[in-house]
Amino acid sequence: MWDIDGNEYIDFMMSFGALIHGHAHPTLVKTVCGAMAEGSHFAAATSAEVDAAERLRRMVPSAEVVRFTNTGSEATMLALRLARAHTGRCKFLKFEGHYHGWYDPYLLNAHSHPPEQLGPVNNPARIPDSEGIPPSTFDDVVLAPWNDVAALERVLQQHGHALAAVITEPIMANMGCIPPRAGYLRRLRELTQECGALLIFDEVVTGFRYAPGGCQEYYGVKPDISTFGKALGAGFPVGAVAGSRLLLERMQWSERMVLHYGTFNGHRLTMKVVAANLEMLCAESAYRKLHAVGNAAIAGLREVFRRHKRKAIVQGFGPMFQIYFTDQDAIHDYRDYCKYVDTKLYSRFVQRLLDRGIYMTPSNGLHWIISTAHTEADVEVLLNAADEACLDLA
Ligand SMILES: Cc1ncc(COP(=O)(O)O)c(C=O)c1O
Repeated sequence: MWDIDGNEYIDFMMSFGALIHGHAHPTLVKTVCGAMAEGSHFAAATSAEVDAAERLRRMVPSAEVVRFTNTGSEATMLALRLARAHTGRCKFLKFEGHYHGWYDPYLLNAHSHPPEQLGPVNNPARIPDSEGIPPSTFDDVVLAPWNDVAALERVLQQHGHALAAVITEPIMANMGCIPPRAGYLRRLRELTQECGALLIFDEVVTGFRYAPGGCQEYYGVKPDISTFGKALGAGFPVGAVAGSRLLLERMQWSERMVLHYGTFNGHRLTMKVVAANLEMLCAESAYRKLHAVGNAAIAGLREVFRRHKRKAIVQGFGPMFQIYFTDQDAIHDYRDYCKYVDTKLYSRFVQRLLDRGIYMTPSNGLHWIISTAHTEADVEVLLNAADEACLDLA
């Protein structure tokens, strides 16, 4: 990337994870030019949409049927509406620190706050993330800590019978990068099945990043509904909801249908990009490379911090990770993040990297992204910059 003054950067933010093949990949440029010349949008289903949907279905284990939206937020919005229609229940459970887009009911405790404001773990303080949301919106939201089986069992025992859905990011990606504890997602699957709540995996960040079938493939846990965005469109605005035929056919035209409208849904040009993107991701080497380059960056950064005797951990694996300046060995959830992570030091560190040609957001809540365009040489540049930035921090 080059900024307006002509300074050159290596991008590790990749448009919040959307640019899975980097900037201006030649195959995608060709696809877009061709699609534009043929007609970009027809307000009708096209063979491009069918092609994109069939490719997605082949890759994602739980996807029997798929519906396209324009953003991840629209996808999570639709997922909740489907779950409510299917179960006849209104309430849903979201976890502290998880972000699912900017739809009103999801905007509870998605930002970090000082530890003293968080309330007890068993009864978290409910902190809206935005003005302009009627307080009654949150009457239907049950809030729980994540990555804690005992807390989950407790809250589902109390509220499970009333829940339409439990929504989770399979890897927590909006407090940096926090993988689930061993067995946590599997237990979540069992418990939601027992209480009749649908399990929604919000794979807007993780989808098409860790494996062709996202985290549900990686961890071997099948949700009822999955949502996608970001890497699905390789830089183009798109989202998707996938699940069983029984569930998604509720959107078929009828008096009691689940409504999902949208002028640009299934936009032909975007669908062409989705299909080309998914085809590239099915190449045998794609995920091997994403993981290898990411793991090299992670190992290298750990070594840099060790050499400089900096109390920092690099958490995550393969194509997505985050640096936490902390004296803890791991960050397991939202409360750990709020309590133990020096986010100001991280911002200063990233500023030093920016001065050395590494493009990354100073927000500790986001994460480093590896695309198929990154190389080991890019990692070398990053590690040299990190080495110098550490000296500069002292
Ligand atoms: C996990 C998750 N879900 C949903 C969304 C919303 O996606 P979009 O920004 O495309 O509306 C985001 C965006 O960052 C996200 O991180």
